[in-house]
Amino acid sequence: MTSESVRAALADGVLTLTLARPDKKNALTDGMYGALADAVIQADADPAIRCVLFEAEGDGFCAGNDIADFARIAMTGGAGDANVFRFLKALAHSTTPLVAAVQGAAVGVGTTLLLHCDLVFVADDARLATPFADLGLVPEAASSLLLPGRIGHVRAFSMFALGERIDGPTAAAWGLANACVPRPELAARARTAALEIASRPPIALAQTKALMRQAEAIAGVMDREAVLFVERLQSDEAREAFMAFAARKR
Ligand code: COA
Repeated sequence: MTSESVRAALADGVLTLTLARPDKKNALTDGMYGALADAVIQADADPAIRCVLFEAEGDGFCAGNDIADFARIAMTGGAGDANVFRFLKALAHSTTPLVAAVQGAAVGVGTTLLLHCDLVFVADDARLATPFADLGLVPEAASSLLLPGRIGHVRAFSMFALGERIDGPTAAAWGLANACVPRPELAARARTAALEIASRPPIALAQTKALMRQAEAIAGVMDREAVLFVERLQSDEAREAFMAFAARKR
C-alpha cells in the first residue's frame, strides 16, 4: 500500500519514512497507517534495509490519529480502521532497528510509536503528549505497559490522565529520548545514528533487539487495549471530545 502522505526512500541501508501531511500536523489517516505498516514489515523481510528512520515534514512530528477519522467511527459505529492495528502489530514484532527524529508536537500515537523505536532524538521544541483520557479514550500501542515501564507510573498516569505535555529536555531526562538537540541539528543527528546502525552486523542487532523486547507480551497488551479503545471510540465521552476539537477549529 502506498500513501502520498508517507514518503519512503532507501539509501545506504536506511529506509527513511517521512510523514508528509504537514498541513494537518502529520495526523495519521488509515492510508498512512497502511503505508507505514507495509514499510515496517518489508524492512524485516529485505536484507537491504538495515534501519528504519521515522521523520516528519513541517513544524510538528505527528498530531496522532486523524480526529476526523475517529469522529467518523464514533458516529457510524464502525469497528475502526484495520491498518492502525496492522501498523501497531508490525511495530510490536519488528526486529529492524527503528530510529525517530521528533520536532514540535508529538501527540497520541505520535508519542506512543516512539516507545517502539530503538533510538529517539527530539528537538528542543518537541512537545510529547498522550491525552487519551481527555479524548474519552484509553492508551494504545501497548503504551499502558511501555510508558509506565519507561518513565514510572505517576509520570505516565499524569500524561495519560491529565494530558501533561513533556518538552524535549524532559523527554531526554526521563528516558523517552536519547538526546534533545537544537532543532536545526535534529535531522542530521538522527540520520548519523541511523547510518551508524546500518553499518553494524544486522543479525546480531536484530537478535539483540528481539531479546530486549517481549514482542508477544507487547502484542497481547495491544489486543487488550484495542478492545477497550474501539469501545471508547463510540462512547459519548469520545464523541463530545471530537466535537469539541471540530468546534475549536471553527
Ligand atoms: N486530526 C485531524 N486534523 C488535525 C489533527 C488531528 N489529530 N491535529 C491537527 N489537525 C489539523 C487541524 O484541524 C488544522 O486543520 P485546519 O487548518 O484545516 O483547520 C491543522 O491540522 C493545524 O492544526 P492546529 O491545531 O491549527 O495547529 P497548532 O499548531 O495550533 O496545534 C496540535 C497543533 C497538534 C497541538 C493540535 O492541532 C492538536 O492538539 N491536535 C489534536 C491532537 C490530538 O488530540 N490527537 C489525537 C491523539 S489520540
